[in-house]
Amino acid sequence: MTESTGWGILATGKIARSFARDLREVPGARIAAVGSRTAGSAEAFVQEYADPGCRAHASYEALVADPGVDVVYVASPHALHLEHATLALEAGKHVLCEKPLTLNTAEAEAMVALARRHDRFLMEAMWMACHPVIRAVREGFAEGRFGVPRQVHADLGFVVDRPPGDRLIDPALGGGALLDMGVYPLTLAHLVLGPAEELTATAGLSETGIDLDVAIAGRYARGAVAALTASMTSVSPRVGSIATSTGWVTLPADFHHPPHAVWTPAGGEPELVEGLEPVLGTGLGNEAAEVQRCLREGLRESPLVPHEQTLRLIRQMDDLRRQIGVRYAADDA
Ligand SMILES: NC(=O)c1ccc[n+]([C@@H]2O[C@H](COP(=O)([O-])OP(=O)(O)OC[C@H]3O[C@@H](n4cnc5c(N)ncnc54)[C@H](OP(=O)(O)O)[C@@H]3O)[C@@H](O)[C@H]2O)c1
Repeated sequence: MTESTGWGILATGKIARSFARDLREVPGARIAAVGSRTAGSAEAFVQEYADPGCRAHASYEALVADPGVDVVYVASPHALHLEHATLALEAGKHVLCEKPLTLNTAEAEAMVALARRHDRFLMEAMWMACHPVIRAVREGFAEGRFGVPRQVHADLGFVVDRPPGDRLIDPALGGGALLDMGVYPLTLAHLVLGPAEELTATAGLSETGIDLDVAIAGRYARGAVAALTASMTSVSPRVGSIATSTGWVTLPADFHHPPHAVWTPAGGEPELVEGLEPVLGTGLGNEAAEVQRCLREGLRESPLVPHEQTLRLIRQMDDLRRQIGVRYAADDA
């Protein structure tokens, strides 16, 4: 690898644009190439977001073959993540893959196995786990400053008003609130309370069979619990809170990349909890910085988003989908 990290952006949709904007704030990051299904989209993306010398490719195959690319950022719809991460890993590239890593456990296990076989770095783009404020909250719990966490509440949602075929509502592309938004409250509960012992869900489904609104009740070690929701039909407050043995921590909107946290000890004054380091861009920059740190250190997975955690969360979502009756074509493969 060269001194700077050459990023290859695979797909030119909404999150790819946000990610490219944030990369400008990341020391040592450079967009080496962009790949799209169409030449026009790749070229327009390069014009708008990329660094001088960046190449536009009219296929994902050409992108992953670009020798200037060290790590491919997979930003296609979840149903296509395995196919696109496979292209990159087989071309010898490291991979940062958007969340959720895949549609189901079988696909996620296949992707992790492939990364190990090719000895490449792989991380799910769970940027919440790399966010400086979330890391500060986790550190506070690890040091015992906030007492023992007993209850996590978190919700994420917005009104999805998209045309048929949009990835958010298309079952063929993995549409649904649980995989798109619910993965964040579930991951927050996991980061604070550890692995779930039992999860129960109920949901309202669309006519096409995807979950529009989902509510999850979770039980964790030592009887701690979580109440988690995700919605595609309502304007949600998007906040999180953690009730502990000695007070409560609030994560204001948006809880998965909060501006700060607030610790309120019982009977005491609220205290601001600030990030461990500066937020890079909107926070997507911090996950990119974490990838670059791991690559510099020769790691193949990040301690902030280890494979084991990603796989556990995907298994949980498989189980929750079984409970609410949401199936994707990939489940039958
Ligand atoms: N981290 C976050 O906060 C965050 C936020 C939003 C989304 N995401 C995740 O990022 C992924 C992409 O989401 P997005 O909102 O960016 O989606 P989007 O705006 O619909 O963009 C998806 C892109 O994927 C490519 N693509 C390849 N095959 C496709 C197909 N059959 N149908 C549609 N698009 C196809 C297209 O790029 P080309 O035309 O250039 O090939 C398209 O622009 C999802 O997995 C989502 O969960 C993460």
